[in-house]
Amino acid sequence: MRALLADRSAPAGLRIGDAPDPVPTAQEALVEVKAIAFNYGDVSHVRDLSDGAVSGWDAAGVVAAAAADGSGPPVGTRVVTFGPGPAWATLRAVPTGELAVLPDEVDFGAAAALPVAGITALSALRRLGPLLDRRVVITGAAGGVGRFAVQLGALAGAHVIAVAGRPERAKGLRELGAAEVVFSLDEITEPVHGALDNVGGPDLAALWELLAVDGAVISIGAASGEPTVFPAYSTIGRRRRLESFIGSVAGGNGPDLAYLVGLIAAGRLDPQIGWRGGWDRAAEAAEALLSRNVNGKAVLDVA
Ligand SMILES: NC(=O)c1ccc[n+]([C@@H]2O[C@H](COP(=O)([O-])OP(=O)(O)OC[C@H]3O[C@@H](n4cnc5c(N)ncnc54)[C@H](OP(=O)(O)O)[C@@H]3O)[C@@H](O)[C@H]2O)c1
Repeated sequence: MRALLADRSAPAGLRIGDAPDPVPTAQEALVEVKAIAFNYGDVSHVRDLSDGAVSGWDAAGVVAAAAADGSGPPVGTRVVTFGPGPAWATLRAVPTGELAVLPDEVDFGAAAALPVAGITALSALRRLGPLLDRRVVITGAAGGVGRFAVQLGALAGAHVIAVAGRPERAKGLRELGAAEVVFSLDEITEPVHGALDNVGGPDLAALWELLAVDGAVISIGAASGEPTVFPAYSTIGRRRRLESFIGSVAGGNGPDLAYLVGLIAAGRLDPQIGWRGGWDRAAEAAEALLSRNVNGKAVLDVA
C-alpha cells in the first residue's frame, strides 16, 4: 500500500512511500482509505517515530474486505474509522467496533474530521454531567477538539464560553453556538460549572480558580507546553474537581462515532474543516496545524 511514512529528513517528518499491506484479524475490516485527518497530538510527535513507521488515528473510506468473524459492514460500505492503528495509508485494518457507517450525504473528508476530535469533545463534555443552562468554558476553542466541543456543548444546552488566541482564530465560533467568545480567561468574571482545557499551563490554574462549588475542569491537552502552577492553598476550601482526560483507547467507539455521523448528516454538527488538500501536501497541512493556522480540522484526501 501507499502510506504517509515517518521520515525525520522529510519536511514535517512525513513523506509518501510504500509500506506492507495490513493483515486484518478476524475482528477487523479492511478499509480502502479515501480521506484522513491530522490531530495536533499526531503531528507534534511524528518526529519521535522510527523512520518508515505509519501513524494516524482518523480515516474514512470504503470496506474492501469484511471482517472474517461476520461482524461489521459488508464490502463496499462507506465507513469512518477510529483508533491508534496506522490510519494514514491507502489501506487500513480496523476493529469493527471502531467504525461507523456513512450515509451517502456525508463526505469522506467530513467524516475523517470526526474520530479523535469529535469523540474527545463528546466524552469530555459527558464528564461534566448535565449541561442545561450551565456555564462551560472551552480553551483552545479554535482548534479541532475545541470546535466540536463548542457545538456539542451548545447542543447539550450549555452557555458556552469559547477561548481563542486571537480574533482570526475565533471566526465562526459564535455561529457554532458559543454564547461568549473571549481571548483571555481574565475576561470571565462569573464562576463556571465546568471547563474543557486543551491548552494547559497558566490557563489550567486560572480555570481552577473560576470553578463554582462542585465544578470540574477536564484536562484534555497541554498545547501550550507550559507548566501549571497552583498557588498554595488554592486546592483547598471549595469542593471542585480536576480530571485528567484519557481518550477512548479501550475501544467500543463505534456507537459514539455513529452518533456524530448522524449529527453531521442532519446538519446539526459541522466538521469545521479549516484546511483541506491532497495528502501529497501533508507537510503543508502539518505545519499549518502546528503553527495554529488551521481553524478546526486539517483533512487530507488520499489519492
Ligand atoms: N487526552 C486525549 O485523549 C486527547 C485527545 C485529543 C486531543 N488531545 C490534546 O488536546 C489538545 C487540542 O487538540 P486539537 O487536536 O484540538 O489541537 P489543535 O486543533 O491544534 O488545537 C489546539 C488549540 O490550542 C490552542 N493553543 C493555545 N496555546 C497553544 C500553543 N502554544 N500551541 C498550540 N496551540 C495552542 C490553539 O488555539 P489558539 O491558536 O486560538 O490559541 C488551538 O486552538 C492538544 O494538546 C492535543 O494533544 C488530547
